[in-house]
Amino acid sequence: MPSQDTLLSARGLRKQYGALVVLDGVDFEVRRGDAIGIVGPNGAGKTTLLSVLSGSQGASAGTIGFQGADVSTLDAARRCRMGIARTHQVPQPFSGMTVFENVFTAATHGGGFKRAEAYDRCIDALDLCGMTKVANRRAETLGLLDRKRLELTRALATNPQVLLLDEIGGGLTDGEAAELVQTIRVLHARDIAIVWIEHIVHVLLQVARRLVCMDAGRVIAEGDPKEVLANAIVVDAYLGGGR
Ligand SMILES: Nc1ncnc2c1ncn2[C@@H]1O[C@H](COP(=O)(O)OP(=O)(O)O)[C@@H](O)[C@H]1O
Ligand SMILES: [Mg+2]
Repeated sequence: MPSQDTLLSARGLRKQYGALVVLDGVDFEVRRGDAIGIVGPNGAGKTTLLSVLSGSQGASAGTIGFQGADVSTLDAARRCRMGIARTHQVPQPFSGMTVFENVFTAATHGGGFKRAEAYDRCIDALDLCGMTKVANRRAETLGLLDRKRLELTRALATNPQVLLLDEIGGGLTDGEAAELVQTIRVLHARDIAIVWIEHIVHVLLQVARRLVCMDAGRVIAEGDPKEVLANAIVVDAYLGGGR
């Protein structure tokens, strides 16, 4: 049951493409102060869950609530203004714009801030994410790491209450991952609830207080990270079934 601390709450989420069922009755809850990790094999439905929660894709069935309001039928822009932000597994910068313009656009259009406040949010987000030095570069000239950071910076500039991160650590060196963990910890300390899909489990565990494991469109285990990772069903989903 949603409690007073519940920010985002999904019940019975289902998503299918034709005959392919990608989310098969997912219940998911994010509370204030949460730091949730999501793991699971490729194709489990992790990215789709984030897309359905953020509103970039509609669910085939189920309900999504945010701070007591039913947001199931609201589009991504509306949900973003309410405080749900996401990053994309494959970075999607606005090309032809500088990094600053990308982040500013996120603050004004995504966050709904007027110019002066949007500017301040931009400066803060760029600084927090280590992107100030490349603020005047065109987004399409950035390497993968900075594209990933730009995803995070844009999401942050919308002033989220819940931040949904999709494999933002992929392809990073140990040093870069440590920096990223540091940034995400700062965001969490600023009272932003974190939901982070990540394959690099030892990095994820430096932030996640609760772990959710998905397989074949379902949540197969959730709870204390160490217990979830030791769970036989989770081990089987990753390593069993001949994979
Ligand atoms: N737009 C789409 N059309 C058809 N199938 C899709 C689409 N998006 C995702 N899928 C399928 O849904 C399943 C789950 O994908 P995804 O959510 O990306 O998984 P994960 O992020 O856990 O790897 C996969 O089998 C994928 O091929
Ligand atoms: Mg994915």
